Amino acid sequence: MAADLVRMVGIAKSYGPVTALAGVDFAVYENEIVGLLGDNGAGKSTLIKILSGTVSATSGEIYMRGKKVLIRNTTDAINLGIETIHQDSALVTQLSIARNLFLGREPLIGPPIFNRMDQRTMNEVAGTLLKRIGITKDIPATTPVSYLSGGERQAVSIARALHFDSDLIVLDEPTNNLGVEETQGVLRFMRGARDSGHSLIFIAHNIHHVFQVVDRIVVLRRGKVVADDVDPKSTTIEAVERIITGVPATG
Ligand SMILES: Nc1ncnc2c1ncn2[C@@H]1O[C@H](COP(=O)(O)OP(=O)(O)OP(=O)(O)O)[C@@H](O)[C@H]1O
Ligand SMILES: [Mg+2]
Repeated sequence: MAADLVRMVGIAKSYGPVTALAGVDFAVYENEIVGLLGDNGAGKSTLIKILSGTVSATSGEIYMRGKKVLIRNTTDAINLGIETIHQDSALVTQLSIARNLFLGREPLIGPPIFNRMDQRTMNEVAGTLLKRIGITKDIPATTPVSYLSGGERQAVSIARALHFDSDLIVLDEPTNNLGVEETQGVLRFMRGARDSGHSLIFIAHNIHHVFQVVDRIVVLRRGKVVADDVDPKSTTIEAVERIITGVPATG
């Protein structure tokens, strides 16, 4: 049995009269890619927002490596080694690629008090990271994010997770709006991260993308887990689609 990295227990979340999550148990083991699937509104983004500290749960508990943790905000999550790339990416569009990569964690130079941000280091690291993530077009790291395409913005978010070497990297629809080449770049990055000891949560509506990289599939339907141990190697896309919709096979 693989060791737990993260375990969420009895997570519930209501938005007024809307129940987004109705008591969800969800675990991520060390060194795996979990595909989190479900139809629109199933609760996927809400669950990972609770994990990344942008939304607080109505009830439930979170454990990391068996120890109970409190995730009250994004800083708590980041300090615990959880980096999230949200569906609606949280980049500051008027700042450069390099500044976005280091947002809130800028390297400093100079003596204390008189120190300032180390722009050169940020630009250098950003340039290297963009290449690693597969942005082959020559985009200077000083370019404002508002000049980038949706896919390129995703790449910047992913590069950030890569650089800070988080234990858990959560990707909410990272392949949305991406071209074929860029999608393969993201999938390659995910495999690479897993193979170097990280764990990842991958949310996507394109089940073909999910089947290409994940070790295990968890399915949410209307705020509940309806399957949590689906092995993509021993099932079919059609079977998983039936779990997602809840419609049994005919014939
Ligand atoms: N900020 C909010 N205020 C009110 N209701 C919300 C809010 N965020 C989500 N919900 C509701 O919670 C439910 C789950 O939403 P969530 O965004 O988690 O779904 P999802 O599985 O990520 O869907 P999608 O695949 O469309 O991204 C939905 O019914 C949604 O309308
Ligand atoms: Mg979502």
